[in-house]
Amino acid sequence: MNDYRLTSHLAPKRGWLNDPNGLCVHQGVIHIFYQADPDSLTGKRKAWGHFTTTDFVHYTDCGLAIEPTEAFERHGAYSGSALSVGDQLHLFYTGNVKEPGDHDFIRSGRQHNTIHALSNGKTVDHKHVVLSNADYPDFCSCHVRDPKVNKIAEGYEMVLGARTLDDEGCVLRYTSMDLEHWQLNAVLRSQNKMGYMWECPDLLHFDDVDVLLCCPQGLTRQGYHYENVYDNGYFLIQQDQAKTYRTLDYGFDFYAPQTFEDSRGRRILIGWMGLPDTDYTIPTKTWMHALTLPRQLRYEEGQLKQRVIDELQPTHLLTAKTTQAQAPQACVLKMQPQKSLTLAIDTLKIQYADGLFTLDCSACGEGRTQRHVELPNLDTLELYLDVSSVEIFLNDGQFSLTSRCFFDTAIRTIQADCEFDLYDAMAIEIESR
Ligand code: FRU
Repeated sequence: MNDYRLTSHLAPKRGWLNDPNGLCVHQGVIHIFYQADPDSLTGKRKAWGHFTTTDFVHYTDCGLAIEPTEAFERHGAYSGSALSVGDQLHLFYTGNVKEPGDHDFIRSGRQHNTIHALSNGKTVDHKHVVLSNADYPDFCSCHVRDPKVNKIAEGYEMVLGARTLDDEGCVLRYTSMDLEHWQLNAVLRSQNKMGYMWECPDLLHFDDVDVLLCCPQGLTRQGYHYENVYDNGYFLIQQDQAKTYRTLDYGFDFYAPQTFEDSRGRRILIGWMGLPDTDYTIPTKTWMHALTLPRQLRYEEGQLKQRVIDELQPTHLLTAKTTQAQAPQACVLKMQPQKSLTLAIDTLKIQYADGLFTLDCSACGEGRTQRHVELPNLDTLELYLDVSSVEIFLNDGQFSLTSRCFFDTAIRTIQADCEFDLYDAMAIEIESR
């Protein structure tokens, strides 16, 4: 059976995966939690799955870290974050509770509890609620979730994604001195409405700018912008105002990215290679979805740029300066196209012409069409192909497009009208604990 199992990406052994959660380094070990449901392919009962690594190449699958066992989380241990303080790992997440009636009604029908739990990196205990619906501001609906906690100069900050009663997306910023008592400190919102809900916020502090990553739901498609049902992107924050929104990744399958700072001081981002409320008929029979490759983020010239981390940069060159190749299912292409480009990888087609980059998955099944990026020049293109995924980085990581893509053959036939270097992809190893 073709299982389409990826060789350089984290995915569940069985069952469902969505958002990356709790990314952190704790006592020298990198923890990567994720939204998991090992018992279904649709993600019915959300728990936290858990991988650890020290080098981004060798991983341990530690099974489930958090299961929704308590009344205040009984319909799911939803997304959240982790913070290492001394010998304790503090986990923050949303306990989802559906109440009788219409759970999708925004005034009531759901409790979103902000839960704090403690961990030694292996087991999780002391789960308790630190904020619940009654604590959130009156203008908020019952959709307030996905706490991301950071250490700041004085104490700690937490951002929560929210939907207001006027159906507007915003982010609540709380501060605390002890991780237990949280005070609302600011509401980050844009001057003109940008969607009805901002999920999975992450506030990044660069030297001279604060950047808010989040996933706005409800943006109306405009030309080649916001082609997916839900977008993912970032605002620049000035005096609590969210300005200059930009999409982060333009592919079919990218959502809920989260970042952390590693022990080398790099800001590393991992996203979910999937999209909520999308009818996936993906032909993987026993597992569903995967995380993206870890990417190093930098802020340059007013924009975030992404690059696959050094540890997963390819080292084994297969063919240099070629225009066609038979390639393995997991490989990396690097090229410098400039004016225009036509590239075919089996059924996957890529084109750049007249300032428009097109990823065309129309012949790849799954009812997929095209995704686009407008850019005046295409100086560099890096394409990471795994068995059933593709991640494309344009102009030194200024733009990216991430998608799942299912091929029927074991060898990729690549044809381009410009020269490329072809490498073997770096494979990762996952052992079960
Ligand atoms: C984003 C999201 C989060 C929520 C989680 C539930 O994909 O909807 O807002 O916490 O997934 O799995």
